[in-house]
Order: sequence, then structure tokens, then C-alpha cells
Amino acid sequence: HMVLEVEYSGLLKRARSMIPRASVKEASFRQGNFSLWIEPLLSDDAGHYEALVRYGKETQRCQVKLDVVTAAVTVNPPGLLVETEPLWLNCNSSHSAKLVGVQWFHNGSLVPISSRFQAHHGALSISRLSVSDSGPWHCELTYSDNEKVFATFNLQILGLAGPASPVVYAAAGSAADLPCTLNRDPKASGILGVSAHWSHLAGRDLETWAIFRNGSKGSFNLHLSEVGQGDSGQYRCAVSIHATTITRDVTLAVITVTPSIKGPVAEGSHLLLICSLTHPRGHERFQWRQLSS
Ligand SMILES: *[C@@H]1O[C@H](CO)[C@@H](O)[C@H](O)[C@H]1NC(C)=O
Ligand SMILES: *[C@@H]1O[C@H](CO)[C@@H](O)[C@H](O)[C@H]1NC(C)=O
Ligand SMILES: *[C@@H]1O[C@H](CO)[C@@H](O)[C@H](O)[C@H]1NC(C)=O
Repeated sequence: HMVLEVEYSGLLKRARSMIPRASVKEASFRQGNFSLWIEPLLSDDAGHYEALVRYGKETQRCQVKLDVVTAAVTVNPPGLLVETEPLWLNCNSSHSAKLVGVQWFHNGSLVPISSRFQAHHGALSISRLSVSDSGPWHCELTYSDNEKVFATFNLQILGLAGPASPVVYAAAGSAADLPCTLNRDPKASGILGVSAHWSHLAGRDLETWAIFRNGSKGSFNLHLSEVGQGDSGQYRCAVSIHATTITRDVTLAVITVTPSIKGPVAEGSHLLLICSLTHPRGHERFQWRQLSS
């Protein structure tokens, strides 16, 4: 059937099914290059094409066979993945020539083969997913006939948001919120029954502090209404999603100011105010300020 026709007058006719995917490039056309552009290409466009060019009494023809190769990245296991889980990415295409090479790219950079990323023919295995593995994965298949075929997949990974080992600073007597939030709402992805278990490392033992079920929009933050020095230290939030548990260690550092003299201070005496911080990281900056008299 007719795909596209350009009349002598310049009038362009197109088959309804091809509108507006088929076109000719006007500048090349005027120079005698009558190439047909099809964009975007569909697998149904495969087949034999013929172009007829008529001028005066002459007709010239050229024939082109169009093969449409489909390619896709498939993910195993399918569905939303959770941080630390293993994963297989499969890259395959319908091209029939012999496959000679496969390359994988993540966010546009070539993936180095390492203990975490292993290549097996057309597949890539990732042993422990991390949130940073989210985003577009792109595979490039090279065939013995020098054809290259590409496919992309946008990977989404459920994991904990924010820095890997956060430190929360709080003044003694004030409230503190320890963060433990998923990077997306599991309910919105159809994952129900997510729970979080908070524990506090007291001495050498992990004491259960709180257990949350479901959470609100993936948030399992622990609110402490009034912290004291004894509350400082390491907390662990363990979030269970299906059979996978992901953890986050949060350090609570408590700041206290202690005067060297207890009770009322006589004018003229020597007073020392000591600012202390439990669990200093070493990069903290201290600033003294008098709030009001
Ligand atoms: C003809 O034009 C098309 C589109 O502009 C271009 O891709 C192609 O290389 C040209 N062919 C020749 C032989 O110049
Ligand atoms: C493409 O990958 C899927 C999923 O792993 C697999 O079932 C299928 O056999 C593959 N097809 C080809 C042509 O390799
Ligand atoms: C959590 O969600 C599950 C599944 O929707 C539900 O059965 C359960 O009652 C919920 N638990 C709480 C404490 O809301």
C-alpha cells in the first residue's frame, strides 16, 4: 500500500496509518535524495518497501527490506525491589544473528564488572541492590553482522532515604526525631504490612524501643519527647518488607551545658560553663550565645 507520495507540484500525500510518522527531508529531497523517514518506528512497519521516482517518461525504482528488531530488558524478580535483595537483568532482542557482545550502562556510565555486578551472556546479576542502583539501565547488544541493538529499563528500588549513618543532635531536655523513612510510600506500590523495629544499643545489648506497623507514607521516625544524656547513643531501625529486612543506624548526640558552680553564683566569682556533647564526630563547631538576661 502507498505510504507517502510527493506530487510534482510538491503536494504531499500520506497513508492514514502512517500520519504523521512518515516524512521526507525537504532539503535532501530537492537534491535528489528521496529517503523515507519513519519516526517512531513500530514493529508493524517491517516488510518490503519500494520507491518509484518518475521524471519525464522515465521511472526509477529502489527496493528496501526493513527488518524491525525488538529488544527489551526484563527484570527478575519482577515488581518493586527492596534494597539488599539480589537481582537479574536480562537483555534480549529478536535479532537472529549471533550475539558477540553485551555492555551494560547505568545512568549513562558503563557498569564495571565486579563482585557485585556479574555478567552472564545477555544478563547481569546484582548481588545486593542499593538505592543508588535506581534509575535507567541500558544494555547494548552487538551481533556478528555488526548490528547493535539497545534496550532500557528504569529500575525502582525501595530503600531508606537520607544518609547511611545519620547523627541527630539534641539539647538535653528537648525533643528529638530519629529518621527512618522509606524513599517511597510502599502502600502506593501495593506493598502492605511493612513494619519497623527500633532498638537502642544500651551497653552491649540492643533494647527494643518501639515497634511500628505500616507507618505513614513509609515513615517510621522515632520521636523522643525529652532527651537526657542517658538516651544518647546508637539506635537501630530495622524495617521488614516481605522477607527482607533493611536497617539504618542512627546516632543520637545529646548536648548539655553544666556550670562549674551549682546554685546561685556570687558576683566576682570565677564561673566555668562546660558544653559537652556525647558522641562527637570531630567535625562539630561550637558557638556560645547568651539568649537573654
Ligand atoms: C539522504 O538523506 C537522508 C536524510 O537526510 C540522509 O540520512 C542520508 O544519509 C542521505 N543519503 C545520501 C546518500 O546522501
Ligand atoms: C528473554 O528474556 C526472558 C526473561 O529472562 C526469557 O524468558 C526469554 O527466553 C528471553 N528470550 C530470548 C530470545 O533470549
Ligand atoms: C497494617 O496493614 C495491614 C494490611 O493492610 C493490616 O492488615 C493491618 O491491620 C495494619 N496494621 C496496623 C497496625 O494498622
